[in-house]
Amino acid sequence: MSKRNILVTAGLPYANGSIHLGHLVEYIQTDIWVRFQKMNGHQCFYICGSDSHGTPIMLKAQTKNIPAEKLVTEIRKEHIQDFKNFYVAFDNYYTTHSDENRVLTESIYKKLVATHDITTKEIEQAYDAEKNIFLPDRFVKGECPKCGAKDQYGDNCEVCGTTYTPTDLKNPKSVLSGTTPITKKSLHYFFQLPHYTNKLRAWMSEGHLQEQTIRKLDEWFEQGLQAWDISRDAPYFGFEIPDAPGKYFYVWLEAPIGYMASFKNFCDQRDDINFDDYWSKNAKTELYHFIGKDIMYFHSLFWPAVLMGANFRTPTAIYVHGFLTVNGYKMSKSRGTFINASTYSKHLNPEYLRYYFAAKLSSHIEDIDLNLEDFRLRINSDLVGKVVNIASRCAKFINTQFNNKLSKHLPEQDLLNTFMTAGDEIAKYYESREYSQAVRKIMSLADMANQYIDEKKPWALIKEDTHAARAQEICSVGLNLFRLLMLYLKPILPELAKQTECFLKIAPLTWADHQTVLTNHDIEIFQPLMQRIDPADIEKMLEDAKADE
Ligand code: MSP
Ligand code: ZN
Repeated sequence: MSKRNILVTAGLPYANGSIHLGHLVEYIQTDIWVRFQKMNGHQCFYICGSDSHGTPIMLKAQTKNIPAEKLVTEIRKEHIQDFKNFYVAFDNYYTTHSDENRVLTESIYKKLVATHDITTKEIEQAYDAEKNIFLPDRFVKGECPKCGAKDQYGDNCEVCGTTYTPTDLKNPKSVLSGTTPITKKSLHYFFQLPHYTNKLRAWMSEGHLQEQTIRKLDEWFEQGLQAWDISRDAPYFGFEIPDAPGKYFYVWLEAPIGYMASFKNFCDQRDDINFDDYWSKNAKTELYHFIGKDIMYFHSLFWPAVLMGANFRTPTAIYVHGFLTVNGYKMSKSRGTFINASTYSKHLNPEYLRYYFAAKLSSHIEDIDLNLEDFRLRINSDLVGKVVNIASRCAKFINTQFNNKLSKHLPEQDLLNTFMTAGDEIAKYYESREYSQAVRKIMSLADMANQYIDEKKPWALIKEDTHAARAQEICSVGLNLFRLLMLYLKPILPELAKQTECFLKIAPLTWADHQTVLTNHDIEIFQPLMQRIDPADIEKMLEDAKADE
């Protein structure tokens, strides 16, 4: 297989709140894929960063009485620590509030002006006359114009599902001041998305998107694409539009450009990677965006159109995932199921969550549920009861009776072959993001390994001098099976794999190692690798999560 050059991004988290378990679905899904590519010897970069601009961030900083710059710097630091705790290993984690992003955004905008894709138009919007600021949809609340439900946001009704604009609400109130918003006119800048209808339709049919995304796009095409409002009036935390004083780029125009900016910042730190090799129109490299279903529109329509207009390459694929629910419902503060990453990691091993998510993730845009009881049982039975148990059952004898040495000869070639050849099937599952199938296959192998040890009973053989050598061979087979299981689980469980590599005294496992075995090889004294989950740990986490927001 020839070496691939791959650039992978995950959505840039907003720098105004904590990373929660829902976010982690995305960063872990992506991290597993990247780690798998790296294990295969491909060059693969995982690029991300803070989405630092926009009204909510500006207002959050105001309520905290700190400059927006300070807020986003602090939150970025906190996010970096959360990701580290969960072994999410970005190659670069930058910010959209950067010179790189400003320069790229301005240059892309100027190209779009040159291609006549930017137009202006005066529009009317809700305005808070007390705070002197135009109000984004979410900052106006009132009664639904359709069903009359109270306390609804300005974009849609959570009771009847109708979508509308803030000016349609009855008794609208500004969330900021409680006053009734006035409507005010101002000049806005628009990106003419409809200019790209045909190009987007063609692109859509070239296999860059999942079936479900294509169906959604078909609906949007049917309704007809609309020009996209890309400007916001001051005060706004963002980049000012060139030659348009007081007008700022809407955060969603420059946020995806943040992928490029973070990568540019990465390239500038290394002399072996060239920005143009990844972004120029005729780039031969691969580019993937992992995102959640809520931001599909931005990534599958606006973003490719902007890239086309500015004469850059378009993504190889956009991989959309569903949302996390906890115990069957949307995460919620009132149910006590809104759990921050840092709250979880205070009480539970982050690799448990990586494993649980992997066991549920597929290539489809389906929501995945974290059922906390199922989570506990699954970790205890799969990871502790099956996988790690193989090592502890076999290591004991090798350590105490055979001077830490694996046997020269390994019987059970068939069993070992079954494990080795499974590598190709498992690799296919990882590549196609069918992690739940990878996990299922790996666990069926773990069952076979345990069954083998149950049948051969090395603990009985060891008691008879004449059979001791046989016991050493059986335990050596067992540890080889364990090694292969951990190799296959390494993209999901990087820390456990690292501990395994220390225990087995081997170099970091690569995917190609699944065709080899260990014989006549020294190992370390076995140390317990993973603890069972105690229900009390989950209780304590939920107790702490009551303070999360
Ligand atoms: N800032 C934008 C993304 C800009 S990308 C150029 C954003 N930020 S976010 O913090 O709200 O979300 C970041 C990513 O996490 C998104 O892809 C989003 O879909 C994902 N998730 C946020 N909550 C989630 C769940 N509850 N479940 C699964 N994924 C979730 O959107
Ligand atoms: Zn309604």
